[in-house]
Amino acid sequence: MRAVDIIARKRDGHTLSAKEIDFFVQGFTRGEIPDYQAASLLMAIYLKGMDARETADLTTSMAHSGMMMDLSSIAPIVVDKHSTGGVGDKTTLVVAPLVAATGLPVGKISGRGLGFSGGTLDKLESIPGFKADLSAEEFVAKLRDHGIVIVGQTADMVPADGKFYALRDVTATVSNISLIASSIMSKKVASGANAIVLDVKVGLGAFMHTREEAIALAQTMTNIGQALGRRVAAVISDMNQPLGQAVGNALELKEAIATLHGHGPADFLEHCLVIAGQMLLLANRARDTQEARELLLHELDSGRAWRKFRNWIVGQEGDVAYVDDPALLPQTTLIEDLPSPRSGYVAGLNALEVGLTAALLGGGRTRKGDTIDHAVGVVLAKKISDYVEKGERLLTIHTNDEQKLADARRRLLDAYSWSDEPVECPPLIHEIINVET
Ligand code: URA
Repeated sequence: MRAVDIIARKRDGHTLSAKEIDFFVQGFTRGEIPDYQAASLLMAIYLKGMDARETADLTTSMAHSGMMMDLSSIAPIVVDKHSTGGVGDKTTLVVAPLVAATGLPVGKISGRGLGFSGGTLDKLESIPGFKADLSAEEFVAKLRDHGIVIVGQTADMVPADGKFYALRDVTATVSNISLIASSIMSKKVASGANAIVLDVKVGLGAFMHTREEAIALAQTMTNIGQALGRRVAAVISDMNQPLGQAVGNALELKEAIATLHGHGPADFLEHCLVIAGQMLLLANRARDTQEARELLLHELDSGRAWRKFRNWIVGQEGDVAYVDDPALLPQTTLIEDLPSPRSGYVAGLNALEVGLTAALLGGGRTRKGDTIDHAVGVVLAKKISDYVEKGERLLTIHTNDEQKLADARRRLLDAYSWSDEPVECPPLIHEIINVET
């Protein structure tokens, strides 16, 4: 078998066999197939698509590129959640400790930023010392000791996804259902969770722009999960405007910490309660959404969720002084408020433009392996349906580069659209799909 023939077959619209897919995935993981051939195959898949069988085979091959974790010695049920990617989506940072505080272990393989969308690992690595590249043994030990562990793809765990993910980020091959589904589900399957909540984003700042696409992605992932005996629920959530107020790695971490202390943005907290609630339901920790919500609010109000977060950061060797006093986290040299150009109601706030701006300020990568600036980003003061007086603060830009300020100002102003009449707030959650196993 030759990599070039597999690329040519997909380029010409053929269906790849399980053997061809596995040959390519394992060869690429071992470094025998170079990046340029992998990038070509990714583009061919992006343009020609994969059917359900190919997508399932790609997922299985990627999951088996590293170790398959067995967490049955830790607890009867380990839960996980994964977002398909959005702007201002720091949900894991709150949901993981919230759920773990109820006694349910949360073990998770996360990703870095992808295109305009942020990544949990980049947010966590704003904390000096935080170690995301754990071995499989360390993953299990930390999960047992702290009830939470969040790592990246490593040589031990889904290395194929780590390598494909970094290439997709810089080759415009992210927003394809088969590539997203296999990337997410390979991590979920390899990390050993029994119950998985998928947060499928839809809208301008998501990889899926329509409800139909989001449902198709959710169904592709839930089918894979179900076939592998996992309990799965998918929450279709809105990503037309950013979630919460902060967009940018350290800024989002600060917002997550504020939320765990009970003073985060209301939309973000509500979203976290829905996702965490679904995790409790899947794990049979609550009988219905109301009971789940009460349990979670109790963990939040009692400070247990915050203490869980803090112990987790200590467990993964992060310097806890930075989360105890978030003012120590990376800060930019320039912090500029952007005043509103007019009075009126915010009718739209384009999440894609806000995400791209945060990436261009230095929060995202343009080439594989680029280092990112954890401090940069945007904090939104006004979102859809808010009334704003001309000259009032719309948002604040955090940057270390004066030259990028003018471009950021222009892009962010263009991200807003206006109405003279009151505007309704878009729903946070569109629908929830539950799958019985
Ligand atoms: N999250 C992932 O882990 N992979 C994707 O492809 C998109 C979001």
